[in-house]
Amino acid sequence: MSETRLEEFINSLETSLENDAFVKLTLAKYKGVEPGLKNVYVRPVELKGEERLSFLRRYKTKDVVENHTFAEAVAIVRDLLGGEFLSGHLFTVERDSRIEINRKHEAKLSTHPPTFSERRSVEHDRKKQRLVETEGNVYLRALGVTNERGEVRPGMADKFRQINKFIETLSGLFAASPLARERGLSVVDMGSGKGYLTFAVYDYLNRQPGLEAKVTGVEARAELVGLCNGIAREAGFEQLSFETGYIQNFELPETDILIALHACDTATDDALFKGIAANASIIIAAPCCHKEVRPQIETPEPLRGVLRHGILLEREAESVTDSLRALLLESAGYMVKVFEFISTEHTRKNTMIAGVKKEGGADGELKWRQYQALKDFYGIREQRLERLLCENRFV
Ligand SMILES: C[S@@+](CC[C@H](N)C(=O)[O-])C[C@H]1O[C@@H](n2cnc3c(N)ncnc32)[C@H](O)[C@@H]1O
Repeated sequence: MSETRLEEFINSLETSLENDAFVKLTLAKYKGVEPGLKNVYVRPVELKGEERLSFLRRYKTKDVVENHTFAEAVAIVRDLLGGEFLSGHLFTVERDSRIEINRKHEAKLSTHPPTFSERRSVEHDRKKQRLVETEGNVYLRALGVTNERGEVRPGMADKFRQINKFIETLSGLFAASPLARERGLSVVDMGSGKGYLTFAVYDYLNRQPGLEAKVTGVEARAELVGLCNGIAREAGFEQLSFETGYIQNFELPETDILIALHACDTATDDALFKGIAANASIIIAAPCCHKEVRPQIETPEPLRGVLRHGILLEREAESVTDSLRALLLESAGYMVKVFEFISTEHTRKNTMIAGVKKEGGADGELKWRQYQALKDFYGIREQRLERLLCENRFV
């Protein structure tokens, strides 16, 4: 009886492959002797123009992927099911089939309406591929962004979106900069926190053909540095390291790309200054809280009706602070864009200041005059990035 049910299940698999109806197959309830093996996930892939089935064997701490022809795949599934795996779940566009085998080798086969109404083509998968892959991703799993099946955890969807968006932004800036011609890069992420972005940056850059990137995370909290260094070792990221330190005191090595996302208050100014002083080709900052400028603002008369409201004064102070920072970067020879890098519905800390070093034709003096005029308009006396740049004669 069990043999018949098993054969029916295998027939459904074969037919779905012949009819182009196969979506995916999962084997579960592993009872074999391989330590740590939990599941096998089977899905279609395209290799050198040929359709194959990818078998992802998920172990407790790693994933192993093999690709097979359809005929090999059917033989492997026939071998595994009922032997080492006691559960199989087949998804086709016609129906879902589930087989469950108990310890007495009795099999129960059930069919259900299809979960997927259309077969996701390999082409579709390729187009949908994100810059940050979740499948077999060691650091995303260790950081708690994905679960053991490589799926984004429900509470981490915003974080994952933010990581992808950041890598998308970085890839655009990188591709348009002279760094795209380099073979080796040095990147520093200041205020790296739990390292979500630092790991993704390392992974993304080192996947670019012919490029080797060394990435350093700088973080004040030693426990986060320890955690991140452990995950970097686990992921085999040899040129990624994290150091305990304060942004303002950190001696930057030669740096091509400087990143500072959500470093508190004027730590953003310290990071921007470090990037300018290191002559970094790309500087990317997303400011966090803004405390320095607000108490200094002397409301210009025409804005009295606006800035008498606390919330509007706070927003104005944020926008003035980031405008001043952008003008200072421009004065120091960078081309600057300020933009929203992820929708406000996900986080309010979503303003990004991105500077790319100009190769010539700087209009630094004009930007410096605009900076002074803006500062005067609001009666601002002190701005940390300006002070650092002036003290060190960068403007
Ligand atoms: C809000 S978290 C952001 C982490 C990461 N950049 C991100 O965007 O996911 C800010 C981190 O910066 C660190 N930090 C703040 N000020 C710092 C400073 N002056 N030097 C070093 N680290 C700092 C904090 O400890 C914290 O871990």
